[in-house]
Amino acid sequence: MASGASSSPMVPALSLAVVLLLALCGAPGGEARPPPPLHGVRPLAFDEGYAQIFGSSNLALLRDGRRVHLALDETTGAGFASQDLFLHGFFSAAIKLPADYAAGVVVAFYLSNGDVYEKTHDELDFEFLGNVRGREWRVQTNVYGNGSTHAGREERYDLPFDPTDDFHHYSILWTSRRIVFYVDETPIREVVRTAAMGAAFPSKPMSLYATIWDGSAWATLGGRYRVNYKYAPFVAEFTDLAIQGCAVDPTDDRLSAAACDARASLESLAVPAGQRAAMAAFRRAHTSYSYCHDRRRYPAALPDCAGAGLPGRMFGPDGMKLHRRHRAGAAAAARGHRGARDDVM
Ligand SMILES: *[C@@H]1O[C@H](CO)[C@@H](O)[C@H](O)[C@H]1NC(C)=O
Repeated sequence: MASGASSSPMVPALSLAVVLLLALCGAPGGEARPPPPLHGVRPLAFDEGYAQIFGSSNLALLRDGRRVHLALDETTGAGFASQDLFLHGFFSAAIKLPADYAAGVVVAFYLSNGDVYEKTHDELDFEFLGNVRGREWRVQTNVYGNGSTHAGREERYDLPFDPTDDFHHYSILWTSRRIVFYVDETPIREVVRTAAMGAAFPSKPMSLYATIWDGSAWATLGGRYRVNYKYAPFVAEFTDLAIQGCAVDPTDDRLSAAACDARASLESLAVPAGQRAAMAAFRRAHTSYSYCHDRRRYPAALPDCAGAGLPGRMFGPDGMKLHRRHRAGAAAAARGHRGARDDVM
């Protein structure tokens, strides 16, 4: 018969281990805690660097302004923006997406100057495009330059985790030479500036935005699933709002792009050689759509596609990733089967 706890040296050791484990992982059912900020960039409180742009009481500040809740309900979505415009920078947030049914809900974390340059705006986006209960959220990145709204250079990914369970960091590095998107510490996309890209590479000062809105018309599976307000409010949580950038007055062009990069120490944040393999592995495993392989929207691949690093055999002519089953099923393809695809969004 096993002895009582007091007489077994194993039991206290074990319970100590359990306590330590709980302390490290957070108690089950406890509140999700964000991982440490990427690159050690110091997060700002809301009042230090941001301002609400819409949504009245659907934007709520918690924990001395270090956490922001953006809600979408029948009346409105919500959003905030950086107080400053930046010419290049590193922009990061830890985000926890609305749980449960969130079809048609769009959460966006992005840089834009659409307010300043109406016809020639630049934009860099992380867009989270809703879900259907039991299925994962889709994440999209876009790159627009000089008003090129017909060419968003879109990529979509299936995340290797459930983004509604916990906070994860989503970051954008933008310098005069490159753009890098990160999920947590993994770079997932790099756009290196080339002469061929021309003004499609964003080059004018931008503000940072975070918004939640009703994208019923297109967000989830091409609008097949609309926002169902029975599940409202949908709440996206933001924390670790960090910017390391070069704040500029857009009417003053004395500060050159290179001087801005140097001032904000941005090139030192670029993708180190050791992270290139992780980026390539993420891209092969999780890219579900690539503009570089979408021959319907982009009949000729854009010049920057040479560096996108994704084999064409992964994708169908619409740029959607082919399922393994379909890739293997050459016979089925020959019979004219369309094959199983990721859903078109
Ligand atoms: C940006 O677009 C505008 C309007 O189409 C055009 O006039 C301008 O030359 C473009 N800028 C560059 C750098 O190509």
